[in-house]
Amino acid sequence: MVKAIQIGLGHWGFSWTKEVIPKVPTVEMVGYVDTSLDATARVQTELGIDPKLCFSSLDEAAKHTDAVLAICTLRTEAHYPVVKRCLELGYHVIVEKPFTTTIAQGKELVALAKAKGKVLMVSQNYRHQPAPIAAAKLIAEGKFGAMNMVSIDFRRHGPSQGYRYWDMPDPLLADMSIHHFDLMRYVLNDEPVRLSCRT
Ligand SMILES: NC(=O)c1ccc[n+]([C@@H]2O[C@H](COP(=O)([O-])OP(=O)(O)OC[C@H]3O[C@@H](n4cnc5c(N)ncnc54)[C@H](O)[C@@H]3O)[C@@H](O)[C@H]2O)c1
Repeated sequence: MVKAIQIGLGHWGFSWTKEVIPKVPTVEMVGYVDTSLDATARVQTELGIDPKLCFSSLDEAAKHTDAVLAICTLRTEAHYPVVKRCLELGYHVIVEKPFTTTIAQGKELVALAKAKGKVLMVSQNYRHQPAPIAAAKLIAEGKFGAMNMVSIDFRRHGPSQGYRYWDMPDPLLADMSIHHFDLMRYVLNDEPVRLSCRT
């Protein structure tokens, strides 16, 4: 069994608490952290989580639990400070996409994880869905010949899907496009040589 704490019980964090983590039989949850009392109250009332397992700070949870894994389900801007602290405290870490706000922050965390000998993993769930898996198979088999260009047209009705990162600069690029970027790596079984973005 892997003992874990979860940090960030907001919109998607709650869905990890309710839908994702309970389906992993090798994980034992020993702590839930959120700076918002409303968020910790919600997992207690709606999911029956023991209040003794709820904490308002990562350091407090670290003091009172013996977890080895930190599941960081926070918004992007909180990833760098929280993941950094988790690694300093000696946790293995899985963090929601997108990894960090800047490449420098990402490199620093990767180096820190390496120095500490800890696993640092970014959750990227789209590549585990059936459609990308089928597309990757078609490409690998060369079903339609050699690939020379990929064009993606992505649209969704954000408001009805609960999308709410309007306060983030360029949210489609900063929050969502990592999904499509990672899918290109996966479906094409290739790595980028150069990247540019514009809004
Ligand atoms: N994998 C997917 O398909 C998918 C889909 C949507 C969103 N996401 C990602 O999930 C992540 C979380 O999004 P969200 O909508 O749940 O965010 P959110 O803003 O609803 O929740 C973040 C929570 O973290 C808490 N928090 C912030 N700083 C903290 C700190 N230092 N210590 C403890 N708690 C802190 C906040 O109080 C809040 O409850 C984002 O990175 C988003 O991109 C992933």
